[in-house]
Amino acid sequence: MERMRNPFRATFGTTPPLLVGRDVLIKDFGFALDNGPGTHERTSLIIGARGIGKTVLLNAFKDCAEQRGWRIIDETATPGFVDRIRDRIIKILASDKKTLTGLNLTIFNLGLGLNWETRALHETTYTLRDAIEDLLVYQHSIDKKMKQEPTGLLITLDEIHHLRRDEVFDFSTTIQHIMRREGEIAVAMAGIPSAIRPLLASDNDANPVTFLRRANRIVLEKVSDAEVRVALNDPVKELGVEWDQTALKYAVKACAGYPFMIQLVGQAAFHMRENQSISVEAAEQSIQRARRKLGQLVHEPALSDLSYTDRAFLACMAQDDGPSQLTDIAQRLGKTAQYISNYRRRLINAEMITPTANKGEIDFSLPYLRDYLREYAVDL
Ligand SMILES: Nc1ncnc2c1ncn2[C@@H]1O[C@H](COP(=O)(O)OP(=O)(O)OP(=O)(O)O)[C@@H](O)[C@H]1O
Ligand SMILES: [Mg+2]
Repeated sequence: MERMRNPFRATFGTTPPLLVGRDVLIKDFGFALDNGPGTHERTSLIIGARGIGKTVLLNAFKDCAEQRGWRIIDETATPGFVDRIRDRIIKILASDKKTLTGLNLTIFNLGLGLNWETRALHETTYTLRDAIEDLLVYQHSIDKKMKQEPTGLLITLDEIHHLRRDEVFDFSTTIQHIMRREGEIAVAMAGIPSAIRPLLASDNDANPVTFLRRANRIVLEKVSDAEVRVALNDPVKELGVEWDQTALKYAVKACAGYPFMIQLVGQAAFHMRENQSISVEAAEQSIQRARRKLGQLVHEPALSDLSYTDRAFLACMAQDDGPSQLTDIAQRLGKTAQYISNYRRRLINAEMITPTANKGEIDFSLPYLRDYLREYAVDL
C-alpha cells in the first residue's frame, strides 16, 4: 500500500482536517474582534459534552485572532492560571524591551530597576490587571507605529470548572474591569456543562457571576449528518481516496453527529483502505473499532465518575432499544418515583442522559453508551 499520512485526528484537542458545522460561530467571533470593544462575542463561553469539539473551537478562535495580528494567551483553568497568564504577559513585554521605552507602563513604576523582568514575576503587587493593561498600552503603541487597525489580546481558558470558582471569579473581575475601560480584549472560555452550571447558578449576584451569565453562551451541539458526510469525505478525497457510497452511508450513520466519532471512524476507515478505496467491509470494521475506542476513551471514564446507583439506573435504561420510560426504570430498580426522579436529575446534570420531548421519557446523551452498557453491564 502506498504510504500516505492519515488525515483524521482522533485526539482530544487536536484540530481535525475539516472542522464542520462551526462556520457561523467562527465568523461571529471574527466579526466581534473587528467590531471593537463592547461586542458581545468578545466574551464567549463554550459549553458542551466531552468530545463535542470545545477545544478545537477555541483553537479556531485563536486562528481568527492570529490572522488579525492579535496576541494570544491560551491557558487551561487548572490552579494557578491567573498567575500563569500574568507571568506570560511579563515575558511578552520583556521579549520586546526596546519598544517599551517611553511608554507609561505600571511595570516601570514599581521600582524594580533595569532588570525588571525577573523581579516582576515575584512582585505580587503587580496584578493580572496591571499586566493586561500594560500589554494593551504596548500593543496600542505598535498599532500606531504600524498605522494598522487596533489589535488586542485574546485569552482562551479551557476546562473551566466550578471547583476553581475563586480563581475563575477573580479572573472574570479583572476582565470585566478591562472591558469597562474599552480595552481591546477578548476572552473565550470552555468547559463541560456540569462544571460550568454551578458557576452560572451561584445564588449571589456578584459581578463575576453576572459577567459569566452575560457572556455569549455557545452551547455546542452535535453536527448534522450532511456535515458528518463532508467531514468524512473531503479529507480522503483530497488524497485521491474514495469511499464506496454505501460504506460512507454506514459511516455517517455510525457517527451520529458526534465529532469525536467522525475522527475515530475516519481514521480507522482510512487505515483500512485498499486500492485507494474504502469498502463496505472496511467501514463496518472501522465502526466496530471506533466504538471500542469510544468506550475506552469516553464511556469508561464517564461511568467511573458515577455512583453505583447511577450506573444501575443507566444499566436499566440499556434494556430498552430506544428512549426509556421513567416508570419502567422505577419498576426495574424496585424504587419509588421520587427516588428515581432524584437520580434522573443527577444523571442529567452529569450529561449522561437527556429528557426527550415526551414527558417521563429519557435517553442517553452519548452515542453508543447503550451498547457499551449492554456489553459491560456485568462489570458494573
Ligand atoms: N466540528 C468538528 N468537525 C470534525 N471533527 C471535530 C469537530 N469538532 C471536534 N472534532 C474532533 O473531535 C475530537 C474532540 O474534539 P475536542 O478535543 O475539541 O473536544 P472537547 O469538547 O474539547 O472534549 P473534552 O471535553 O474532553 O475536552 C477531536 O479529535 C477533534 O479533532
Ligand atoms: Mg477539550
